[in-house]
Amino acid sequence: MSAVATTTDLVEEILALKRARNAVILAHNYQSREIQELADYVGDSLGLSYHAAETNADVIAFCGVHFMGETAKIVNPTKTVVIPDLDAGCSLSDSCPADQLDAYLRAHTDKNYYVIAYINCSAGVKALSDVIVTSGNATKIVQAAPADRNILFVPDQNLGAWVTEQTGRKMDLWRGNCYVHVEFTRDSIARIRAEHPDAKVVAHPECTYAVRILADEVCSTEKMISYCRDSAAGSFIIVTESGMLHRLRRELPHKTFIPGPTDACACADCRYMKMNTLEKLHACLRDLSPEILLPEDLRARAERPIRRMLELSR
Ligand code: 13P
Ligand code: SF4
Repeated sequence: MSAVATTTDLVEEILALKRARNAVILAHNYQSREIQELADYVGDSLGLSYHAAETNADVIAFCGVHFMGETAKIVNPTKTVVIPDLDAGCSLSDSCPADQLDAYLRAHTDKNYYVIAYINCSAGVKALSDVIVTSGNATKIVQAAPADRNILFVPDQNLGAWVTEQTGRKMDLWRGNCYVHVEFTRDSIARIRAEHPDAKVVAHPECTYAVRILADEVCSTEKMISYCRDSAAGSFIIVTESGMLHRLRRELPHKTFIPGPTDACACADCRYMKMNTLEKLHACLRDLSPEILLPEDLRARAERPIRRMLELSR
């Protein structure tokens, strides 16, 4: 059997399993082209959270990283949430362990912190937070934070700094970052821009300040679609994880997308996002495993700030 026939068979089996399980397949914009093409919904963390919260399916197969599947489970305690690979974590989430955040908050009770957590964090960190944000709604939610409280923003210092630049709201920043986005440098982006002088530079807010100031637009992965669609420009340098290029090329085939390079590579891959494959998606739908399971007390505490986010960002 040829490789093409094998992939086609696998896709058909996944779709048959999906129907049999009454499942929905949700995929992040950084997933491989094959996974994006068969998913019911492809989007950023915010869009995925809404879809997870509103689905009627019995099973959610979440193709992204662990904290995304966990978020789907937090808002869907009675549904089965499966992910293709339990090891698909996130360096940014790992940079803020819940026990360290808990210890920090206990040591700084005088600050009476209002804790704002970027969605790229564990259920344990969400449970310690007042509200969750994504890159798509962070500005709006920070603007709505109580004016008389000190804000602690976790775990991404780059996204937090960008939100302060946008809103003027001072925040104490946890010193975490995404290992993919900090690989883009001022030199690597200046070089590609010089090679494509007519292209607009579009960067994710997890990039460092040195890169963000070179960008024509800084936004979430979902807003990259609308920005590139609405722009009069015909070519764009996309400074984020390489999977984003599949979505952009599929939705805007008449435009040109150039991956933002790092100093070492022509594009940037998230090793965690790329752990998911069609084979593993097939297996998780067949076996209903690996499944996301959470202690009810933790889940309920983590749900509160997510619901607050979903209400505030409507
Ligand atoms: P978005 O919510 O913008 O898709 O970002 C998620 C992410 O993991 C970025 O690295
Ligand atoms: Fe986490 Fe970075 Fe991968 Fe996004 S790209 S999932 S922030 S490690």
